[in-house]
Parts: sequence; C-alpha cells; structure tokens
Amino acid sequence: MSDAVPSAPQSPAPRKLFLISWGCQMNDYDSAKMADVLAASHGYARTDQPEEADLLLLNTCSVREKAQEKVFSELGRWKEWKQAQPGRVIGVGGCVASQEGQALSERAPIVDMVFGPQTLHRLPQMLDSTRQTQQPAIDVSFPEIEKFDALPEPRADGATAFVSIMEGCSKYCTFCVVPYTRGAEVSRPLDDVLLECAQLAEQGVHEITLLGQNVNAYRGAMGGTHELCDLALLIDYIARLPGIERIRYTTSHPAEFTDALIDSFAQQPKLASYLHLPVQSGSDRILGMMKRGYTRAQFLDKIRRVRAARPDLSLSSDFIVGFPTESDDDFMQTMDLIAEARFDCAFSFNYSPRPGTPAANLRDTVAAEIKDQRLAILQSRIRQFDDEFKRELVGTTQRILVERPSRRGEGQFAGRTSTNRVVNFDGHADMIGRFVDVTITEAAPNSLRGRLLDTVTG
Ligand code: SAM
Ligand code: F3S
Repeated sequence: MSDAVPSAPQSPAPRKLFLISWGCQMNDYDSAKMADVLAASHGYARTDQPEEADLLLLNTCSVREKAQEKVFSELGRWKEWKQAQPGRVIGVGGCVASQEGQALSERAPIVDMVFGPQTLHRLPQMLDSTRQTQQPAIDVSFPEIEKFDALPEPRADGATAFVSIMEGCSKYCTFCVVPYTRGAEVSRPLDDVLLECAQLAEQGVHEITLLGQNVNAYRGAMGGTHELCDLALLIDYIARLPGIERIRYTTSHPAEFTDALIDSFAQQPKLASYLHLPVQSGSDRILGMMKRGYTRAQFLDKIRRVRAARPDLSLSSDFIVGFPTESDDDFMQTMDLIAEARFDCAFSFNYSPRPGTPAANLRDTVAAEIKDQRLAILQSRIRQFDDEFKRELVGTTQRILVERPSRRGEGQFAGRTSTNRVVNFDGHADMIGRFVDVTITEAAPNSLRGRLLDTVTG
C-alpha cells in the first residue's frame, strides 16, 4: 500500500484565448481589456499558439484600410482551426464589427460573436449565450460609459500604462470613419480616471498616456458638482498622484488645443515634452474640404506658442496625402508647413475613401503613383527633422524611464526620454521600471545611445 499523500485537487488548466489586434493604440488598449475581462469572468489566459486556444478574437480597425475584405480573408484562414475541435468560438470586434453587425456573421457563419468597441465588456455574457444557444451573439450598440464600469481593475504591465479617458469622436472630419464606428464623444468621470491611474501607480506605473480619439474634448464629470473637468485640469490632478512622474496624451485635435493646454507645457513639469497634434494638410483649401475646423495660420500660431512654452518639445503629427482634388500646389503647402513647424515625427498615409464618409462621395482624383510619390517626399523630410532632433540631443543629459532589456545585446537596457525617444545604454536589470539619467552619446537611425549617470527614482 502506498503511503503517498493524496495530491490536492488540481485547478483546471486555464482556458486559452488567441487574440489578433489590428490598428492603433486605442485598439491595443481595447484588446488588453478584452483579455482582462475574460480572465476575470472565465479564467482565460492569452496564448500566442492558436492550437492551444478555444477562443479566437479578432479586433479590427477600418480607419485607413479596406478592412472589410481583409476581415473575410482573415476569417477564411481560421475555418480549419474552428472545425478541428468542437466548441471553439470565434469573435470579431472593433470598427469592422461595428459597421457590419449582423451582416458579418451572415456572410461568415464561422463567426459566433460580433461586438463593437463599446460593448467589449459584455463579452463574458455573449460567450455564455453563444455556447448555450449555438446561435451567434451580436451586440454593436453604443451604451454610453457603461463599458468602464464593467471592466476589472487595471493590471500594470511595466512602468508605463495607457488609460482611456474618453471614447468616440464628434468631429466628423469628412474622410474619417471613427464617429460612425465608435460613436459620439463620451468622457469618463474624473474620479474613475483618477482611481485607475492611482491603481496603476500602486502597481509601479510611473508614466501614464491618456488615450482617446480626441482627448482635448475631455469633459469629465466632477463628483458632487455640476462642473466638468477639462484635459488641462485632469493633467494637474493626475500629476498629484504619488508615483506618477510623467504624463502624455494622444490624440489631440488642433481646433481644441486650448490656451490652457498650451499653458500646461509651461507650468506642469510632469507633462512630457512630446505633443502629437494631427494637422493632416497644410493647404487651407484641403483643410476646409476635410472640415478640420482650423486654418494653416491658426495651426502655426498654436505651434509657435507651444514651442515658446516648452522649447525642447518633440512635435508629431498625422498627414493624409492625396485627398480628392489635392494639387501639387496644395501638397507644396503641406511641405512648407512641415518646414515651418519642424515636425520631428509623423504618421502619414495615402488617402483612401472610407465607406459612409462624406469624402467617399468625392471622386478619388489623385492617382495612386502620385500619392506614393508625395508620401515618400513627406516621409523623407520628416526623417531629416527626426535626425536633426536626435543629433541635437547628443551631449545633453536626459532622464529616461527604463522599460526593458535592449535588443542591442547582453547588459544593455532601453528606456524613453521625455521627448519619446528610445535610448539604449549599459545598465542593470534592477533599473527596469525606474528613472535614470544618461548622457546621450550617439544618434542612430531609430534610437539614441546613452551613458549612465545616476539612478534617480524608483
Ligand atoms: N483624432 C485625430 C485627429 O485629430 O485628427 C485622428 C484620429 S484618426 C483615427 C487617425 C489618423 O488616421 C488620422 O489622423 C488620419 O491621418 C488617418 N486617417 C483617417 N481616415 C483616413 C482616410 N480615409 N485615409 C487616410 N488616412 C486616414
Ligand atoms: Fe477622425 Fe477627425 Fe475624429 S480624424 S477621429 S473624425 S478628429
């Protein structure tokens, strides 16, 4: 007879979720929340091995691509996966799900769940429902701010974190699909945002990036009053939270880039020296057709003032080239604006018509080759300013937040400057998650090299 102690009942192996996320930071944030909500409700753990998973989620983005067709061809690749094991479930979320709704599961019957950016917190119920009824569960509604109330406590993953402060967009730029797929602007109450930031700070987060399609439209309810908190005030509140040393925000609309936000760059030292302010074009005629709500002169005036408030600022933007009717002259005005504003970073795209947007009714007049040429010229100019920006940092001392071991090799670590530049340096693993001072010794194409001075915070 064996005298072995009976082993304790083993907890079942966690169910595995395979998640594909397309697009922007906002989508990555939503994807992380999908994983969190399913971990809390059903004990799901994320895997990068689809064969281990019984749940596949595809979080789509249709801002710049012909994403509809891409979704169906992606789904075609998962047919065999689904049939290989009974009970496997496929869910599609994000912008394409929001646009297609029911039609998506009708055209692709392997899809069991269709949910929008604002209903991802309902995934646990949708999953139970589709498993019980064997029918697709579809919910692409826009229930105001309910999503955030239903999400589990945030889980920090390192010393930096994203916090969504508002959802949707009400600007209706003529080329953009976001207001139709993500709904109107809705701000989270101030206390909810502060609580999430404080919870992250307690887990070792030192840098918060505030997220939203248009964060400077933030108007958060302030508990116990009828007043609303704007972004500048929110930054000041977050700066008072113990542990939070750096704050960034993205994306910001130039028309609502207020004097208060410009003053923040002069007055709030915890606000990082980095601003992403999408201008899209330097031609007033094109800006008017895009319904952007500002002129080139108004934009440049704001840039002049924000540069005076924060001289070491890194300035980033978004550009669209080849908007319908954009002439060589319109494009040259964009190039002039780039030279005047000295953007050292940019996300730039060829225009593509998005279904359901007003601009999609205009003839797409600029030939694909011309768009490609203009994009290449624009990107090469921005690279020049990026190189200059980095060269000017050589010899200066920069405070960096160390994020991870560097891909450059053993004993090297990587962190970011306040101006959002990656710096590689020789250091120690215990510096991860802490601020250190480095002298910048070299500017490389995609990063900087630094020499360690002294550990500062942690
Ligand atoms: N809220 C931001 C702003 O103030 O402009 C923009 C957010 S939008 C989701 C991200 C970027 O995608 C835009 O700035 C624009 O450059 C690009 N984009 C949006 N629609 C596009 C289209 N139809 N074609 C090409 N680029 C597009
Ligand atoms: Fe799109 Fe314009 Fe809003 S680009 S996200 S409609 S500010």
